[in-house]
Amino acid sequence: MLAFISILFITIHSISSSIHTIDDCQLLIVGGTTSALGAVLSASKLNTHVCLLEPTDWVGGQLTAELLSAPDFAFHTVTDKDTNFTLNVGSIDQQLNNQNPLFSEMLNVLGDTGRCWVSPKCSIPELFHSQVILPLLNKTRIFYNTVIKHIKKDVNGRRIIQIDAIQRTLRQSSSERCRFLSEELPDWYSEKDSTWFTKTQLSFTNISFVIEGTSWGEVLVLSNASYLQGLMEKFDGDTSGIGNSTCGQSFTFDFLEQLQEKPIDEPPNQLPPPVGGANYSFLNLPWERIWTYRRVNTSALDSYTVAVNDLTIQNWGGGNDYRREFFFLSPSDTEHQRDTNQWQGGVNLDAIQNAERQAYGYHYWYRQNAPTKWANRTVLVRSVSAAGTCHGLAKMPYLREARRSIGFENFLMNITTISGHARDLHGHIFYDHLCIGAYDADIHSMIQCTYPSYMTQYYPILPYYIPLRAMTNRDIDNLIVVGKTMAQTFLVNSATRLHPVEFSIGQTAGVVGSYAVENKLTSVSEMLKEEHLKRVQTLVRQFTPTSWTINGTRYPDD
Ligand SMILES: *[C@@H]1O[C@H](CO)[C@@H](O)[C@H](O)[C@H]1NC(C)=O
Ligand SMILES: *[C@@H]1O[C@H](CO)[C@@H](O)[C@H](O)[C@H]1NC(C)=O
Ligand SMILES: *[C@@H]1O[C@H](CO)[C@@H](O)[C@H](O)[C@H]1NC(C)=O
Ligand SMILES: *[C@@H]1O[C@H](CO)[C@@H](O)[C@H](O)[C@H]1NC(C)=O
Ligand SMILES: *[C@@H]1O[C@H](CO)[C@@H](O)[C@H](O)[C@H]1NC(C)=O
Ligand SMILES: *[C@@H]1O[C@H](CO)[C@@H](O)[C@H](O)[C@H]1NC(C)=O
Ligand SMILES: *[C@@H]1O[C@H](CO)[C@@H](O)[C@H](O)[C@H]1NC(C)=O
Ligand SMILES: *[C@@H]1O[C@H](CO)[C@@H](O)[C@H](O)[C@H]1NC(C)=O
Ligand SMILES: *[C@@H]1O[C@H](CO)[C@@H](O)[C@H](O)[C@H]1NC(C)=O
Ligand SMILES: *[C@@H]1O[C@H](CO)[C@@H](O)[C@H](O)[C@H]1NC(C)=O
Repeated sequence: MLAFISILFITIHSISSSIHTIDDCQLLIVGGTTSALGAVLSASKLNTHVCLLEPTDWVGGQLTAELLSAPDFAFHTVTDKDTNFTLNVGSIDQQLNNQNPLFSEMLNVLGDTGRCWVSPKCSIPELFHSQVILPLLNKTRIFYNTVIKHIKKDVNGRRIIQIDAIQRTLRQSSSERCRFLSEELPDWYSEKDSTWFTKTQLSFTNISFVIEGTSWGEVLVLSNASYLQGLMEKFDGDTSGIGNSTCGQSFTFDFLEQLQEKPIDEPPNQLPPPVGGANYSFLNLPWERIWTYRRVNTSALDSYTVAVNDLTIQNWGGGNDYRREFFFLSPSDTEHQRDTNQWQGGVNLDAIQNAERQAYGYHYWYRQNAPTKWANRTVLVRSVSAAGTCHGLAKMPYLREARRSIGFENFLMNITTISGHARDLHGHIFYDHLCIGAYDADIHSMIQCTYPSYMTQYYPILPYYIPLRAMTNRDIDNLIVVGKTMAQTFLVNSATRLHPVEFSIGQTAGVVGSYAVENKLTSVSEMLKEEHLKRVQTLVRQFTPTSWTINGTRYPDD
């Protein structure tokens, strides 16, 4: 990988001693989420000049850097009360012809080494990174350890023409103490060299199209594009931005634990409890069921048996979910950070720090509250080769939402388009439908927040479709938004935020971006014209299904 990075630098022209200009990334994917990964793989297959900027050294977002190589698939059923007709959304979703083939292939490389019960395939995060994802990125251009700092638009303010970024290199000589993300993040966004890192400023110019593939919606903010955040909606499909932008879903620092043969001492918890205290709970499940929930390696043959040397990912609603503070700063504080050139992602560092404490505290609580047989036998895996960090927590927090785009002509994908009667079989077929997805609406609520009643109602979620308009922004013509940053309501995001859906959206966006570059389009919305749309749909089909197959029939049959 080092050799690969140095090859990249040869193509970079120095215009000053410290800023490198890169002018051959026509399609620039900012961020390395699961969607961004899907996008870079389809775009590079179509031979587009594509580059990806990844904030850490693992691409894949929730699959890798957020430490959740236990992907969530739909498992729910929907039943009509009047007739009892039942649609098994989970089994429809798991049919091979409804799956993204590359995603299935990726999961098959390591298989289900954990016999977990949340997912058909759970495997060790580091192996998923090194043995599944890295080989696929072989011929792509990835700028690792790179965050964005500034975006420049054209005179009309509708096109992104330049993105400035900061790439950090770990000093070999650095033997400083281990830092948590809450301590390290400001350093990532500073142009200045530090005790830990040397920095290179990168300036991407000659950009045709940009894919917003960050976990936090940073491109939306830095390009001053319209977005919604958290509960900023009075009702479903509302774009007013009036609501509560400091409330949304909880977020989580995942970590790995291993079961030892005998009780073993651990260093005491070095972190204090989160401000306001923590309230850990098994949520009525036995200790063993939480252990096997997202287990990633075992010698056991089923998902009930706990075995020595088991490796497990902890991502537990009653445990490391941090529910007290919202991850994102308010829009005004966020804009202040941007407008004073102090950009650091627009995120709440206090919340990040408290979430780290919540996670560490949960590890010790779970260990102390084990049945006698397992008491003091679970250890936090702190090795860099497991979670990829010195402290053992994931490189990045696992987020359930980002800032969300407001799409072309105020488009927002809303709940009525993905829910309905079981007898309807599927969600609304948008004229500009591109790919498909399925999952139940799943909101992890925050403690002090009040959720509008329409958000807490039950919605029967059907197998649904993602339209091109959900990948647009009303203000920026050359921006494609993917995954959690899509033009969708808070509720819809709660049902699209899962790994396989995000990957399919990403693969689709890679096609959309490549098509736009190749055909020299001026805006993403131009692709809504039928001549383009039909061709894009055909191209997308090479990568991921565009229709649902239910009982042998394709919906729609195009
Ligand atoms: C822009 O990028 C394209 C494709 O990488 C390249 O052919 C072209 O020369 C570049 N233009 C400028 C002005 O750098
Ligand atoms: C639906 O199932 C329930 C429970 O099995 C039953 O009580 C009810 O009569 C059924 N309704 C119809 C319309 O069949
Ligand atoms: C990368 O691709 C080249 C050429 O296709 C291949 O020879 C090499 O084995 C690949 N490397 C990895 C790590 O897959
Ligand atoms: C951002 O856009 C709004 C309109 O949506 C405009 O009023 C404001 O001046 C813009 N801010 C910047 C920094 O461009
Ligand atoms: C939901 O979306 C559909 C399809 O785009 C649209 O017709 C409808 O007006 C939207 N509903 C709300 C409440 O915005
Ligand atoms: C702690 O969590 C449990 C289970 O979720 C809940 O019943 C209880 O009310 C909570 N206690 C406090 C003090 O928040
Ligand atoms: C995973 O489990 C298998 C089967 O027990 C074992 O051979 C292997 O060493 C384990 N790997 C790790 C990294 O723990
Ligand atoms: C687990 O370790 C703690 C701290 O060393 C000790 O107080 C406790 O008795 C141990 N529990 C068991 C069941 O061994
Ligand atoms: C948003 O929610 C927080 C937490 O519940 C509350 O303190 C605040 O007053 C709410 N703000 C608005 C504008 O409703
Ligand atoms: C699919 O076909 C089976 C057998 O004919 C039937 O029982 C089931 O209700 C059908 N499911 C749907 C969703 O139409």
